Parts: sequence; structure tokens; C-alpha cells
Amino acid sequence: MTKRRLRSQDWFDNPDHADMTALYLERFMNYGLTPEELTEGRPIIGIAQSGSDLAPCNRHHIDLAKRVRDGIRDAGGIPIEFPTHPVFENCRRPTAALDRNLAYLGLVEVLHGYPIDGVVLTTGCDKTTPAAIMAAATVDIPAIVLSGGAMLDSVHEGRLAGSGTVIWQSRRRYAAGEIDRAEFLEAALESAPSIGHCNTMGTASTMNALAEAMGLSLTGCAAIPAAYRERGQMAYRTGRRAVELVTEDLRPSQILTRDALLNAVRVNAAIGGSTNAQPHLAAIAEAAGVELTRDDWQIHGYDIPLLADVQPAGRFLSERFHRAGGVPAIMWELAEAGVLATGCATVTGRSIGENLAGREATDREVIRPWDAPLMKRAGFRVLTGNLFDFAIMKTCVISEDFRRRFLSEPGHENRFEGRAVVFDGSEDYHARINDPELGVDDRSILVIRGSGPLGWPGAAEVVNMQPPDRLIRAGITSLPTIGDGRQSGTADSPSIVHASPESAEGGGLAWLRSGDRIRIDLDTGRCDMLVDEAEIARRRQEAAPPVPEAQTPWQKIYRQEATQLSDGATLRSAKGFHRISRRPPRH
Ligand code: FES
Ligand code: MG
Repeated sequence: MTKRRLRSQDWFDNPDHADMTALYLERFMNYGLTPEELTEGRPIIGIAQSGSDLAPCNRHHIDLAKRVRDGIRDAGGIPIEFPTHPVFENCRRPTAALDRNLAYLGLVEVLHGYPIDGVVLTTGCDKTTPAAIMAAATVDIPAIVLSGGAMLDSVHEGRLAGSGTVIWQSRRRYAAGEIDRAEFLEAALESAPSIGHCNTMGTASTMNALAEAMGLSLTGCAAIPAAYRERGQMAYRTGRRAVELVTEDLRPSQILTRDALLNAVRVNAAIGGSTNAQPHLAAIAEAAGVELTRDDWQIHGYDIPLLADVQPAGRFLSERFHRAGGVPAIMWELAEAGVLATGCATVTGRSIGENLAGREATDREVIRPWDAPLMKRAGFRVLTGNLFDFAIMKTCVISEDFRRRFLSEPGHENRFEGRAVVFDGSEDYHARINDPELGVDDRSILVIRGSGPLGWPGAAEVVNMQPPDRLIRAGITSLPTIGDGRQSGTADSPSIVHASPESAEGGGLAWLRSGDRIRIDLDTGRCDMLVDEAEIARRRQEAAPPVPEAQTPWQKIYRQEATQLSDGATLRSAKGFHRISRRPPRH
């Protein structure tokens, strides 16, 4: 057992506060713990439980926690399990994005205010992962991520039907009249065949992969499907390792370095990861007190090739990806190519490079070699111009059809121009998109505003708008879209997302009008409305687009506090709180 005095001993074994110690201890007796267990200097390991009936993607963590407890006990620690604020991507209205910062705040308070020496972060559904990592970074006690794992590969009508992605595809088929409502529902239901989170490379798979890439989970953890026996074994090993982390005093601040964050940016490109990784990594970097700039995505991510043939950018789903070698196999390729910082520390106690020894991919159909990728430049294109200071585009989902229609001007192969059709929020989009008066054609650019952190509130996944039904019936399945909100990580549409500042903050989108021409140049990274300065200045005198009222206290607080997506949609008041476990709370 460790000689170092543990944080929890300040509560449970503190001779200077005999009265308080008695009070702190007694109520833990009421479910059978003994005073010896809590007072003999054994590491107390929190299990931050993100699963519940309301968080189905993470619900099996309730069972996995039993194996985590076994591991903690076998390594000499004491498990203490507690709930985190539920975050369920698909069901939380007006958007689950509101809850990342709320779950973060809650977990910071728990980790700081209770006798916890180290923590197992149970993660899965999209925001549960960044929220947990942000909190661990702020508090800076030894922490390890246990991903819940994805659902099994889902099949509909004999074809792989990835989470989310099948919804976007079915909604197009429904609009085209190819399927009816019942068939739409059936496709959706069949895409969820087992416990676990989304089985595409959506935000959940992405953020768990990036947690591993940053060194926060045991090697190979992220991609193990939820229902595999390996998942329970990983839970056990993670519990064991959590105790050792406390003994070794290995903390997030030693792991979450700038190099670790840049590794995550690179891995995100190679897996065809979710655009949501951008604000989440920005938020994690801020919580860790590490620099990660907007340009880092362009400088370190854009040129990385797409190696994972996984939906939505590719063909396969999580089971095949895991069996092909998962995240370590992707990182192995990057390390061999010399683009990964392999010296970074990880929760294994070894460096990234050491963890990757012998981890080459075993299925080259799913995980491509560095020099034979699915696509050469797969990272996010960072864009700027008179519509926004910052936005990103996931170039690896730009289809051939889209390229043919939009990106084919001789001499400007990566430039396109179109006529803007502007919507104020998704209600407006749904009400008007099929109105023939709008004149949407195959050269239109759909724009949605009022969907950013302040406008929605919470930044909604609404930018991946589909064309009007009549265009879909004519075979035009996607148009360029631009918005100050987000798009689902499972979406396969070429959207320009996270426009910052958003319209509700007076960004350029607020002054755009339907009928204006927009030019997007992926080579120069510019996106502009072709409207002259004087006209924009005149429009700025007019009223800004309306923003709905806050419906809950938190929505109001969120709006007062949230930064733009370019900066991670973090809370202003949380800025500057780092390593707060160094200052124990008052008795
Ligand atoms: Fe929870 Fe996708 S909805 S992981
Ligand atoms: Mg989502």
C-alpha cells in the first residue's frame, strides 16, 4: 500500500479534525462498509456512473461497474460509485449539447468536494466523454476512461445500417417516396441491435477513440463493442489500473499535454471522426490549461489521410473496426509514418509508442495502410471569411457526385459558388424547404442560423439539412449547407459547421439574405457572401434575427456563460480553474 498520504485521508483519517472525521465516516457504515476499509489508507476510487435508464447508450455501465469494482478491490482500493448527470444525445431537447457543461460542472464538484483519490470515468454517448475528461482535467486527480463500447454491427435489408447514418439515408428515401413511415421506423429500430453507443464513427466512437489517443484509457479500450466479453475484462483491468494510478500519482496533467491533444486531432482525421471533436477537444484543452488553437486543425489534421473504412465516411461498422485492430492499429500507422508524438505519457504507465508495439492492423480492408488510404487529405478544412471568423468542413464525406456538381470549375477544382437560401432555425427550415417559391435548385446553398450555442441555445445538430423532396426525387441527395450549429457525427453531408461568431452573437450569417451569392474556396480556406461592404453595413442597421426565450434556468445561465463553438462552447466562469485538487475544500 502507498506510503504517500492520500487525499481521502484528509476526510477519513485526520487527527486534527476528530469530530469531522467521525461525521464523514459514520454514514458509510449504513450499507456495510467498515471503518477499517476507509481508514487504513486504501485508495478510494470513484466510479463516475454515466449509465441510467435515461442514458441507454451508457446503460450497461451499470453492469460493467461490477467488474470495475472487482478490479479496484483486487488491487487494494475501495470503490465508490456515484451518478453523473444523464446526457442522451438522441432524446434530450432542445439539444444534448446543453448538458456537456452541466455534467462537467456536476462532476467537478463531486470529485473536488468528496473523499475520492482517483476516478474511473465511464463514457460512451457523445458528450459523456468530453464532459468527464474536462472534469478530470480541471480537478486533476488520477483518472482513467472506461469506454462503454459501441453496439454490434447492425443490418437492415441485408446491408450494414450504421447508427444515425441509416436515419439520414432513410430520411432521403422517405422524402423520395421510396419507403413509407413504417419502413423508416423499421430501419431505425434495426440500427440498434444491442447494448452500446452508436456503431458508426459518430461522435461517441470518435470521442472514445480520442480519449484513448490522448492516453486516457488502456490500450485497445475504445473500440471493443459493448456486448463483447472483452468489454467486461477491460472494465476489470481498468478498475485495477485506477488504484495503481493513485499509488503512482499519475494525473491527467501529466497526460493531457499539447502533444496529446495534437495526437487526437491527427487520429480524428485518420478515423474520419466527427466534426463535434473540434469543440470538445477545444473544451478539454481549456480545462487542462493546454493550448489548442483553431488553426491546429488545419496545420496538424487536414493533411492526414483517411485510414478507417467506417461509416459515415466509409463502409464498415464498429465490430469490424475493432477486429481489425481498432484505435491502436490506426495510431500504429500514424506512428510508423512519423506523424504521431509517441513519447506522450498514458494511463498504462508507458508511453504511446510503447503501447503501440505489435499493434499493426489485422484486416487491411477496414484499416488501410498510410500510403494506400481511402482519401489523402481527410482532416477538417478550417474556413474564414465575411460570414464568420471560423468554421470547419469535414472534407472526407464530400461525395464524388457532389464534387462533380459543385467542385469542377476548371482551374478552381476546389471552389464552388451558389445562391443562399437562409433559414432561421429548424422550424423555419421544415416549414419552408418544400415551398416551390423558394426556388431551391441544384446550385443552391442551404444556410441555417440561430443554431449556435447562444441562439438555440446549446448549438444544435441541424446543419445537415437535406434538399427539398423534389430534388431528392431527381437524384440530388445533398446540397452544400452552412450553419452556426453543428451536424451529427454520423452525418454524411458536406456541411460547413460551427460558424463563429454565430448569428445570435452578431456574426456575418445574421446579415446574409436569401438570394445572395456565396463563394467557398477549399484551397484558400475562404467562405464569403458576395455582397459589398456598404450593403452589409446597411443591413447591420436592421434588426438581428430573433432568438427564442430561455425556457429553463440553466438555458439562461448557459447563454450568459457559453463561448462560441470555435472556442469549444465552454463556460466563461470555468476558465482558469486548473488542478483544483491541490486546494482541498474547507471542512
Ligand atoms: Fe448515444 Fe449515439 S445516441 S451514442
Ligand atoms: Mg449527435
